[in-house]
Amino acid sequence: MLAINFLPAVAADAADALVVLAGPDAALSGAAKAADAASNGALAAAAAAARFDGDAGAIVEILAPAGMSCRRLLLVGTGPAAKLDALAAERIGGAITARLLTSGETSVNVDVAGLDGVLAAHLAHGASLRAWRFDQYRTKMTDKQKPTLATLNLIGGGDAAHYARLAAIAGGVARTRSLVSEPPNVLYPESFVDSARDLADLGVELTILDDAQMRELGMGALLGVAQGSVRPARILAMRWNGTGRDDVKPVCLVGKGVTFDTGGISLKPPGGMEDMKWDMGGAGAVTGAMHAIAARKAKAHVVGVIGLVENMPDGNAQRPGDVVKTMNGQTVEVINTDAEGRLVLCDAMWWAQETFEPEVMVDLATLTGAIIVSLGHEYAGMFCNDDGLAEQLRIAGAAVGDKLWRMPIGDAYDKLIDSDIADIKNVGPREGGSITAAQFIGRFIKPGVKWAHLDVAGTVWANKPGPLWDKGATGYGVRLLDRFVADNFEL
Ligand code: BES
Ligand code: MN
Ligand code: ZN
Repeated sequence: MLAINFLPAVAADAADALVVLAGPDAALSGAAKAADAASNGALAAAAAAARFDGDAGAIVEILAPAGMSCRRLLLVGTGPAAKLDALAAERIGGAITARLLTSGETSVNVDVAGLDGVLAAHLAHGASLRAWRFDQYRTKMTDKQKPTLATLNLIGGGDAAHYARLAAIAGGVARTRSLVSEPPNVLYPESFVDSARDLADLGVELTILDDAQMRELGMGALLGVAQGSVRPARILAMRWNGTGRDDVKPVCLVGKGVTFDTGGISLKPPGGMEDMKWDMGGAGAVTGAMHAIAARKAKAHVVGVIGLVENMPDGNAQRPGDVVKTMNGQTVEVINTDAEGRLVLCDAMWWAQETFEPEVMVDLATLTGAIIVSLGHEYAGMFCNDDGLAEQLRIAGAAVGDKLWRMPIGDAYDKLIDSDIADIKNVGPREGGSITAAQFIGRFIKPGVKWAHLDVAGTVWANKPGPLWDKGATGYGVRLLDRFVADNFEL
């Protein structure tokens, strides 16, 4: 974790590294002008030599600047003032971290005297998000590979109260990234639940269903997926009521938590199967969002429900052709055991509706490879039965950088999952695979419930570093859900 401090105007070059900011057209900030003078004109000369244009996140770095006590002096572009919003500030912070994280420097001072206090807090937030790494299974890292940067000081500005709120959210993002990164021999339904127990310290009320209770409740679809694994299934509900009232209906967030997806008897091909450890990314996002919401004491009533199973092939695994009965009584013909996420969600979501009576329910799931074909890794797919809810989610996602693109649903698609021998089959034709997956879940939404399904298969994991994450788990969904709650459900 990167420690963030707020310091008054101290000798700015007292840390290992000093960052000064500049806009386009070489519009040096006051701090940049001072650093240029202190370095005897080296900064402006270096900026000219590097053809520095002040683009957001562009960096000119001077090592061992003469006349200064820091070891590195960095000129960092902010882009044009009109485009410098919270997201842009976060990306600038992320660029600073990416440059310094393993540089050997342990501390950086960022002179933010000329910058709006909230934007400076977002800069620190971006720096903090970009610093997260998952190294605990690497026992042979060389010193050069190890992160060194431990402290970022905002000098002469920054809104500390706003940063405290962002730090709570970053805690949720870190929790999600850890869950998504853990290997599947370590993270399975029971250990996932154990990892969430400390949410109680934040005031979150936890309810756990074991397999006997789920059998009693009639969750034949979820249990059918789990029956091929030696790891028993769990449902975890996490409730945060920050309203101080008991008459406020909760918003329900539901997550797919397949801790490993082999495909079951409809076995996946081996290439890339290790990626299916992050088939719990929806559940991870919901858990991290509950952390964020509770840690910043949101004045809202929110329940996170996650369905946790491992999808394995074995002598007791369910077969293609099996018919299972869901908690709400509908029967499902299992055509393909690899379309397991919807089987987990339908029971988890029905139970969530029966238990918590939400008016609004949002599920997140790494549900289909087809959504990656449609949208790549930029946007998650959104399927929604209410235009107002869809717009609330789209706006929240755009504000925090967890982008959503709305996809269609409707009766013509719904017909495609009618079964010949049961009420529903668990797959439709190859075409429109993300849509028929959404239609399946839609058959388990009670009348009047506003519902959105977010297919996050393309966004929870990144094969290359991004502005606010290293390669690996992105934490997608935490900031989206937190913002969605903040903007629409807080008293
Ligand atoms: N977890 C997968 C979806 C997935 C695939 C996520 C690739 C990320 C990357 C899901 O359980 C699945 O296997 N879906 C099938 C559905 C098909 C059998 C109808 C798919 O997308 O191929
Ligand atoms: Mn699958
Ligand atoms: Zn899956």
